[in-house]
Amino acid sequence: MKNFSKLAFVALFIASGAFVTSCNDDDDKAAEPASLYAKLGGTTMVADPNNPSQMIEQGRLSYRSVVDSTITLIVSDVLAGEEGNLGLHFAPVLSEALSGNTTNVAILSKNLTDFFSANTGGGATNTYSGLGMVAAHDPAQNPRMGKKSNNADYDKFIGYVGAAAGLNGVTDPELIGEVVAVLESLRAPIVQE
Ligand code: HEM
Repeated sequence: MKNFSKLAFVALFIASGAFVTSCNDDDDKAAEPASLYAKLGGTTMVADPNNPSQMIEQGRLSYRSVVDSTITLIVSDVLAGEEGNLGLHFAPVLSEALSGNTTNVAILSKNLTDFFSANTGGGATNTYSGLGMVAAHDPAQNPRMGKKSNNADYDKFIGYVGAAAGLNGVTDPELIGEVVAVLESLRAPIVQE
């Protein structure tokens, strides 16, 4: 991830009071506020609904569920010809998926889940190894990005994530507010038009 994005996350965490210090001397300190990852279920192990013989951290599962619903909502709107849909941006990914090759959609789901988990307190079990946010959203650097996005596209994307959160039971307005704040902190590097 580019330094800018890292800084944005750090700034957001400090500002929201969700920053967890590495100090062990907490005898006379109030309990540390939970990270967003912890609020979404944290490191509690649960059966993976996509593969019940495997376990997954609940925090990671929450993100993955929201990410997968977001992708589904984006695709539904493209297929329905919804105004302002993100079809041109996701064209390379969608044309593959619609012709039956879902490998790269699975990779995108994993990268997005890693990204959110690793950057909101998911700890060492969640590491992101994809492109930085500027490169990932610049078609010249990432041919899988069909077209640069503008502010309206970004608003649309945040709307999908909000709807996807609701579909997955994340409805607490405070929690949604924190998720939206994380998304907003990334607008500058991602909106490039
Ligand atoms: C907070 C908002 C967003 C975040 C955190 C985000 C994050 C990411 C991440 C982590 C990747 C994977 C990079 C990699 O595989 O190396 C990615 C790829 C991508 N993003 Fe975003 N993104 C956001 C908003 C958007 C928006 C608004 C659009 C389009 C309008 C968009 C379109 C894409 C496309 C087309 C790809 C490439 C997909 C692929 O390689 O399979 N993203 N994004």
